[in-house]
Amino acid sequence: MIELIHRLTSYNNLRAVLFTMPPEEAHRYALKALQLLYHSGMARHLYHRVNAPVRLWDISFPNPVGLAAGMDKDGEYINALASLGFGFIEIGTVTPRPQPGNSGERVWRIPQAQALINRLGFNSKGLDYVESQIRAHHYDGILGINIGKNADTPLNQAVNDYVTGFRHMYPLATYIVINCSSPNTRHLRELQRGEQFNELLSALVDERQKLTAEHGKHVPLVVKIDPDLSLADLDTIAESLLTYGIEGVIATNTTIARPNMIDGMPHSDAQGGLSGAPLLQPSTEIVSQLHNRLGNQVPIIACGGIMSGADATQKIKAGASLVQFYTGFVYHGPDLIKETAQALQKILA
Ligand SMILES: Cc1cc2nc3c(=O)[nH]c(=O)nc-3n(C[C@H](O)[C@H](O)[C@H](O)COP(=O)(O)O)c2cc1C
Repeated sequence: MIELIHRLTSYNNLRAVLFTMPPEEAHRYALKALQLLYHSGMARHLYHRVNAPVRLWDISFPNPVGLAAGMDKDGEYINALASLGFGFIEIGTVTPRPQPGNSGERVWRIPQAQALINRLGFNSKGLDYVESQIRAHHYDGILGINIGKNADTPLNQAVNDYVTGFRHMYPLATYIVINCSSPNTRHLRELQRGEQFNELLSALVDERQKLTAEHGKHVPLVVKIDPDLSLADLDTIAESLLTYGIEGVIATNTTIARPNMIDGMPHSDAQGGLSGAPLLQPSTEIVSQLHNRLGNQVPIIACGGIMSGADATQKIKAGASLVQFYTGFVYHGPDLIKETAQALQKILA
């Protein structure tokens, strides 16, 4: 019976159907189907979490393979996604107030390259809604919460949005990610540079002192960076991370570059952030460069282009402590979780 259900729910079959739909519609259907599978109790029989424990920030991660931000922006599918075997789940990006994101067509598939381009622009139901979802889930696994700024908040007031999100989510999160690297919110990436970055980190670290006392827990602060940074940018970012004692860095978000390998493919010139296979090498290069600068002082969560166990292994060899993926999950489904966790189990043993 389980074998039959396995075949019926095989991701290759499901993907063939999903890829006939526009990407955002497919996304909604897939998550609803997963929710059904979870509530039916079937997911428990179909998927098993690979045991490959990693200790980081005094937290024991059951395995080093996580779901990247953006798949479950509003925290509506936490338990269902976790049931597939992820070692940790990151939700968001959450903005303080609800906002629809950009209008029009905003996600494209490039199947020949196992890639996606998106210009969603932080469609978010806002902090209050996401909080209610998290509370309703009673999830006891590792939960990262990724926060951002509203599109209509001027850049010089962005710090307030991050502090608001940080304060709101602090009691609910295992770790909190500051997303200042999405290419789809105007000027957002400028926050990673120079004094603005230091002001942001300084405000969050100050706020955390109060929150640690208030809640009796210390929540690690993690910064997510983009893959289009220059080596000089990486120097100053690394210096700031060390100065402010930031506990982690996610490398990387999507890229605005268009590698030669996707030249001429349908949608390759769509505006937005490119993710998936073409991002693997540039993103891994950022992991290596960061690791050279940070050593083991600031752990790196590698994200970008992971499509196989070998890709995940490459990220760990470049200096990462944990990995995450989004686009690989769209192209390969839950099997990729098992494959990557098993590959990492071998090298981390
Ligand atoms: C459709 C889509 C939506 C995304 N939304 C977010 C987001 O809200 N916040 C964020 O930090 N990253 C977001 N990302 C970026 C991913 O978390 C990840 O950093 C990036 O896609 C590279 O990893 P991948 O190649 O495994 O997809 C999104 C990616 C995609 C494809």
